[in-house]
Amino acid sequence: MTSDFFKYQAQTTPHPLAMEISHANGSYIYDINNKAYLDFVAGVSACPLGHNHPKVINAIKKQLDSYLHVMVYGEYILKPAVELTKLLAKNLPLPLEKTYLTNSGTEAIEGALKLAKRATGRSQIIAANKAYHGNTMGSMSVMGYEERKQAYRPLLPDVQFISFNNEADLEHITTKTACVILETIQGGAGFIAPQNGYLEKVRNRCNAVGALLILDEIQPGIGRTGKLFGFEHYNCTPDILVTGKGLGGGMPIGAFTASAKLMDLLQDKPKLGHITTFGGHPVIAASALATLQEITESNLMHDALEKETLFRQLLVHPLIKEVRGIGLMLALIMTSEDIANTLILKCQEAGLILFWLLFEPKAVRITPPLTITNEEITKGCAIIIDVLNSIS
Ligand SMILES: Cc1ncc(COP(=O)(O)O)c(C=O)c1O
Repeated sequence: MTSDFFKYQAQTTPHPLAMEISHANGSYIYDINNKAYLDFVAGVSACPLGHNHPKVINAIKKQLDSYLHVMVYGEYILKPAVELTKLLAKNLPLPLEKTYLTNSGTEAIEGALKLAKRATGRSQIIAANKAYHGNTMGSMSVMGYEERKQAYRPLLPDVQFISFNNEADLEHITTKTACVILETIQGGAGFIAPQNGYLEKVRNRCNAVGALLILDEIQPGIGRTGKLFGFEHYNCTPDILVTGKGLGGGMPIGAFTASAKLMDLLQDKPKLGHITTFGGHPVIAASALATLQEITESNLMHDALEKETLFRQLLVHPLIKEVRGIGLMLALIMTSEDIANTLILKCQEAGLILFWLLFEPKAVRITPPLTITNEEITKGCAIIIDVLNSIS
């Protein structure tokens, strides 16, 4: 299998981890030798209920027995998709009311950018340095990391970059701006949270010049920061909210949500303003609905903040410069890139899954399932400290 993996399946780095998976359950992933790995990454924040959560699996199986794909997005009434969008609306502040379901996060970003242009009749997009919003051409155009995008230029025109948390830069948002797009908490940059009322100030500036605010909650969303959406910490409601990853409960999804007035623009002039074959797929919507129900009806969000405290108590070591982030969206900032690499690889050998962040080479990702137990946290942190002791 390993040689076929390298021969037939396209890779995106020269050295993928290449662990062959047998099965996964709860907070554990098992390789083909039945070695158990405690998962501190949760599919890069995409498995908030861990692996094979019974409520998610049951919802998927039930839907499998009824129907799979039957028609392109938005024509037929598919109960799981309707119930999912309704439950999202119930848990969001107005005017966020109507949701478009897509197949991935990046596709939802594309839809959100298009909607902002369509709604304002303007073309300028303002994004943040070190932002990550996905890898299709539009999303890549608003990625604030030149090294990874220069080979793909020309990208979208009229995109300008500002520095996240820099208040002075907000003057670049003007009456020419269609939208400002930001991650609520910058992920790839190193889990950087907004400071000093930054998002509220962005919101006010957008209001003043008639620009729309798009918040990308693909990573912080769905309970990871202790609230259903990260923006709820910051007194700032976006015009367009983009979600994905964890919303699918381990299945591929993206979504963008806005007011009915904004969203309805996609119906007309031109009609078919954003189309997809598989978006809102009934099996995926069923998985997402079960996930969202479990997260909103349980104590998982509340517990995320207590679990953060436990991580912070246990992860104290001279090689850890800082523990960044909120709730169960945490990053260890190590003293060097080498230490970060060694820690991730040695922990994998020792049965603990950690991972990198996109643009911050000294960072080590800790984004476990929200369902992780205190015992599992204690066990995983002991592995980290042991490995760090062996390095130093
Ligand atoms: C903040 C953010 N936006 C967008 C995306 C893109 O989502 P997807 O990989 O589902 O296209 C990601 C994925 O890592 C992300 O973290």
